[in-house]
Amino acid sequence: MFQFDTVAELRAWVQGCRQRGERIALVPTMGNLHAGHIKLVTEARALGARVVVSIFVNPTQFGPNEDFERYPRTLDEDCRQLREAGADAVFTPSVAEVYPGGHQVVTRIEVPQVSEGMCGAARPGHFAGVATVVAKLFNMVQPNVALFGCKDYQQLQVIRRLVRDLCFPIEIIGVPTVRETDGLAMSSRNGYLTAEQRAQASMLYQILSETRAAIAGGSREYAALEQVAMARLAGAGFAPEYVCVRDAVLLAVPTAADDELVILAAARLGNTRLIDNLTVSLRHKG
Ligand code: PAF
Repeated sequence: MFQFDTVAELRAWVQGCRQRGERIALVPTMGNLHAGHIKLVTEARALGARVVVSIFVNPTQFGPNEDFERYPRTLDEDCRQLREAGADAVFTPSVAEVYPGGHQVVTRIEVPQVSEGMCGAARPGHFAGVATVVAKLFNMVQPNVALFGCKDYQQLQVIRRLVRDLCFPIEIIGVPTVRETDGLAMSSRNGYLTAEQRAQASMLYQILSETRAAIAGGSREYAALEQVAMARLAGAGFAPEYVCVRDAVLLAVPTAADDELVILAAARLGNTRLIDNLTVSLRHKG
């Protein structure tokens, strides 16, 4: 597996791949890799493309009081896992390489509508930071396809919209969430949980599953279902931030015509913020 720290080295390698007629798949990450990331790499390999994984903890998507400084950086272990998973190259740029003019004052990409509400409301500027760095990575790597986890559902919809609006010739693939055996969605932030919090954490998935079952069973009282789920989360020891039932593409409040929905939630256990979501299809269910 190659490791590149600079855009110039990476581009030279990508150019060689293209000359040989190879396709490039990009898996953007912030490192501290777990089975969810490795699934992205496995799916990318299955496409028959050369697989580039970027590892970059992006400062512009963290708020001033968030965990940028303490975000786990585990490069050696990440590279070991990537070699084992069969990645072709890892791109590990510095902040100065990604933001040559500094990251405080920078050209930014705002993706309207899908960025608003939920995590966009709780983390002002977060999705502009994500959209900006993802657009930069797309420019640097120029992949044919890029893979993202469905766990960050709002982020995935922001990126789909970004690609459409800016006419990037890149296919975006959302890869289903990988879960622990008790249902907890895999996340780099799970490592912050104490043993007691880890035991509580799977309730987020269980409560989302209950909400999904209620919708699949015919309930259309979405606001009431959201409130019930919020109360259930609080009862299970979380500080709930939101539970929202939305249409699965624009993430707007669903109308009677919407039949592809997503239930999204964010809740804190102590200082650790967990997010998760489940989709629900109402097609052919009346
Ligand atoms: O999901 C992530 O890990 C990050 O938000 C991403 C897409 C790599 C951008 O920094």
